[in-house]
Amino acid sequence: MKKQFDFRKMSFYQIWIRSFCDGNGDGIGDLYGVYDKLEYIKSLGVDGIWFSPIYPSPNADYGYDISDYKDIHPDYGTLDQFRKVLDRAHALGLKVLLDLVINHTSDEHKWFIESCKGKDNPYSDYYIWRDPLFKGEEKLPPNNWYSQFEGLAWEYNEQRGQYYLHVFAKKQPDLNMDNPKVREEVKSIMRFWLDMGVDGFREDVINFISKVPELPNGWSFVPAINGLPFYKDGPNLHKYLREFRKVALEYGAVQIGEAPFTSVKTALTYIGGRNRVLDMLIQFDTMFADCFMTEYVHHGFWLRKLKHAFRVWQYGLQGKAWFALYLENHDHPRVVNRYGSLRHWRASGSMLAACYILQRGTPFLYQGQELGMTNIALNSIDKYIDVAAKNAYNTFFLKDSVERRLERIHVSTRDSARTPVQWTDGPNAGFTTGKPWFYVNPNYTSVNAEAEDKDPLSILNFYRRCLALRKSSETLLWGTYREYFPASRKLFMYERKYKKERILVICSFHKEAMHYSLPRGYDPSKGRLLLDNYIDKEDMKGSHRRVCVAGHDSRQRVKAGVMKRLMPYEAQVWKF
Ligand code: NOJ
Ligand code: CA
Repeated sequence: MKKQFDFRKMSFYQIWIRSFCDGNGDGIGDLYGVYDKLEYIKSLGVDGIWFSPIYPSPNADYGYDISDYKDIHPDYGTLDQFRKVLDRAHALGLKVLLDLVINHTSDEHKWFIESCKGKDNPYSDYYIWRDPLFKGEEKLPPNNWYSQFEGLAWEYNEQRGQYYLHVFAKKQPDLNMDNPKVREEVKSIMRFWLDMGVDGFREDVINFISKVPELPNGWSFVPAINGLPFYKDGPNLHKYLREFRKVALEYGAVQIGEAPFTSVKTALTYIGGRNRVLDMLIQFDTMFADCFMTEYVHHGFWLRKLKHAFRVWQYGLQGKAWFALYLENHDHPRVVNRYGSLRHWRASGSMLAACYILQRGTPFLYQGQELGMTNIALNSIDKYIDVAAKNAYNTFFLKDSVERRLERIHVSTRDSARTPVQWTDGPNAGFTTGKPWFYVNPNYTSVNAEAEDKDPLSILNFYRRCLALRKSSETLLWGTYREYFPASRKLFMYERKYKKERILVICSFHKEAMHYSLPRGYDPSKGRLLLDNYIDKEDMKGSHRRVCVAGHDSRQRVKAGVMKRLMPYEAQVWKF
C-alpha cells in the first residue's frame, strides 16, 4: 500500500481533449496540443489534470462510449505521446487523473460484439441481457425503464434474440458488474494505467454500476427516471467499490466518483472516514440552480437555490469528508450564461471563481471556464452534435416553433461546453491551423487566453489570483465554513475560520451596485482586503494595508461605516 498524495490541498483542471488544442492541424484537439499547453495549465496555479476519456471510441457520446480501455484514440495520438504528456506533467508537478468509465462500454467494444453472438461464449454474461416480454406476437422490453439519453433503456438484438440494457445511449450497453470477470477486467484496466504512472481516476456515474438484480418496473411522475431507484446506489455498490479501492490504494491513487442524484447522507457512506471507498464525489445539486434535475427543464437562475445546495454540502461534509468543488464541466452549459450575466461578463465571470474556489474542498476548473467562455447559439439542430440535445429537440415541445425549440437547446445543451478553447484572436481562435471539428464561438476575438493573459483585470487572471490565495492560506484550505444572510437574493457571503483567523468571501449576484452590512461580531476596523475582482493585483498592494473602515479603499468605493458598497457582481475577500 502506498501513501496517497494530499488531494485536499490541490486543484484540478479538466481537459475535454477534442476541443482543447489541436497540435497536428487536423482540426481535432489532441495530446500534441495538450503537451504544448502544459505550461499554460501550470500557470493557472492548479496541481493536476483530469482527462475526460481519451481512449478509442466511436464517439456516440464523445469518448464516454469506449471501444478499447487500454489504448489512445488515434485522433488524439498514441500511447507513446500519452507517456510524454504524463512525464512532462509530472516534471511540472502536475498530477494526472484519467476517466474510468465502467458502467457501460461502446457497442463496438470487442466484449459486446462477442456477447451478441450467443449465450455460450466467454463474454455472454458481460452485459445485462433479458428475454423479451410478449404481448401476443409483439415483443416488449423487459421493464419500463427509460434511458437518460434516448428512448427506452432496452434495445433488442436480433443476433442474440434478447434485449440489452443501456441506461445511457443505445450505443452504450451497461456492463454486468455482478459478473466477477467484469470486475477483474476493471481492475486490470486500472492497473494498466496506474503501472504507467497515472495518479488516479475520475469515475463515471459510479453510483450506477450495481443494479437491483430483478430489474423491477419503476414508477415516477417523470417516466425518464422510472428505473433510477433500481440502478442508483445498488445493493452491491459498496462491495464492488471496495474491490476497486484495494487496487487504487496499492498505488496511492486518488478516486473521485461522479454520483448523480446523491444525498449527503448517501455520499458519506462512500467518502466518509478512513475506510472510505472513494476520496471525493461529484454531485449535481450545485449545478441545478437554474433547472429541475436537468438543464432541459430550465427555470432561470435562483441564487437561493444555489446557496442552499452549497450550504447542504458544505455543512453536511464539514469535519466528515472532503468536497469536490465545481461549477462547470463538459456536461453543462457555460456558467457565466447560467449563474452570471453576459452584460457584466468580466465581473460575473470572475466573481463566480471566488464564489466556489474559496469554499472548503478541492476545486475543479473546466477548460475555458477560466477564460469566461460562453454558450454558443447555432441556427440549426443539425449543427449540434450531442445525442442528448438532439433527443430533447426531437422529443419535447414539438408544437413550439423551430426558433423557440432552438432557444431551449441553446440554454440547455452541453455542446456549449464543447466548442474549441479560445486561445488567441487569430484564425479559429488559435485552436487549430486546420478546419475545426466543431464551431468556434465567434466571441473569440475578445474572449481568448492571449488577450486575457495581458489584462490584469481579466477573468483568467482573477482565477489565478483565487487559486494562489487559496493555496497560500491555511484558513482557506482547512478552515470551517459558515454562511451569512442565507435569505438574500442578491448576496452570497461565507466565512472560513481557522484558529484565530477569519476570511469573509462576499459575492454580489446583483446587476446593480448595492450595499451590504458585515455580519454581527465583525469589527470593520480590523478587516484587510485580500482580493477584489474590481481591483487589479498592483492596486491591491496599495489597498492591502488599508482597513475596510479607514474611509475609502484605493478607488473611493467603500464608504466609511458599517455599510459597504459592492459594484455589480463584485467579489471581495476580507481577512479579519
Ligand atoms: C457522465 C459523463 O460526464 C457524461 O459526459 C456521459 O455522457 C455520461 N456520464 C455517460 O457516460
Ligand atoms: Ca489533431
